[in-house]
Amino acid sequence: MEVVIGDGSHLATVGADAVEQALAARPDAVIGLATGGSPVPVYDELDRRVRTGRLSLREARGFCLDEYVGLPAGHPQRYRAVVERDFVAKVDIDPGNVHAPDGLADDLPAACAAYEQQIRDAGGVDVQILGIGADGHIGFNEPGSSLGSRTRIKTLTRRTREDNARFFDGDVDQVPVHCLTQGIGTILDARHLVLLATGAEKAQAVQWMLEGPVTAMCPASALQLHPHVTVVIDEAAAAGLRLAGYYRDTLAHKPEWQGW
Ligand code: GLP
Repeated sequence: MEVVIGDGSHLATVGADAVEQALAARPDAVIGLATGGSPVPVYDELDRRVRTGRLSLREARGFCLDEYVGLPAGHPQRYRAVVERDFVAKVDIDPGNVHAPDGLADDLPAACAAYEQQIRDAGGVDVQILGIGADGHIGFNEPGSSLGSRTRIKTLTRRTREDNARFFDGDVDQVPVHCLTQGIGTILDARHLVLLATGAEKAQAVQWMLEGPVTAMCPASALQLHPHVTVVIDEAAAAGLRLAGYYRDTLAHKPEWQGW
């Protein structure tokens, strides 16, 4: 795993560079899209690069990580709608090429299986953008999630619903109890994982993820099993790391040819 303890510019550019690398290899690259505040600087940087003509996502495909169950079509907090606002509307990707699990399906297990198949049919995810929850969740894989899990229904923890209540008028009761999420196994199938985290409230989860045991109690710790992971964090999120000095040294001596 490569750990970048960076400033605001790293938080935007590393993820955008990773997407740019994937698009250079294949213009129809598949991008895994996370919601939440953490990936927004990456999406804004991609917007900037598209506007200056440096890259194009015209042929790219996108797959959302997760979705709430039961939020009506047109609800502004459906993750499909959030990704449309935060990403699709900013870049030149074809909205028809961006997919999300169907949280309104009558048959949710069938919708999850179909989503897995759609990802496989697309050839798998090239770059998966991730955030992390304060309890170490990725996507909506809460603590206790099987490390081999695939897209499925999950029950959100009280903590996650409280954290996300800020998007629902501060009212935890408006936050759905259930969601559909790519599983840990699904996420680990992506070729390159780029995880972003900022702020002191993420410091404990980041320390568990990078320096703790691989355990279902911290779903993000499964990233230790993946051969190509880039973690981009700010100073506050890095505050608990024992090897922070080593990560800084590694970045300072990163070979120029290496890329992310
Ligand atoms: C939600 C999303 C996750 C996201 C997390 C953290 O739970 N399902 O994908 O990583 O929030 O969000 P933020 O980046 O806003 O802290």
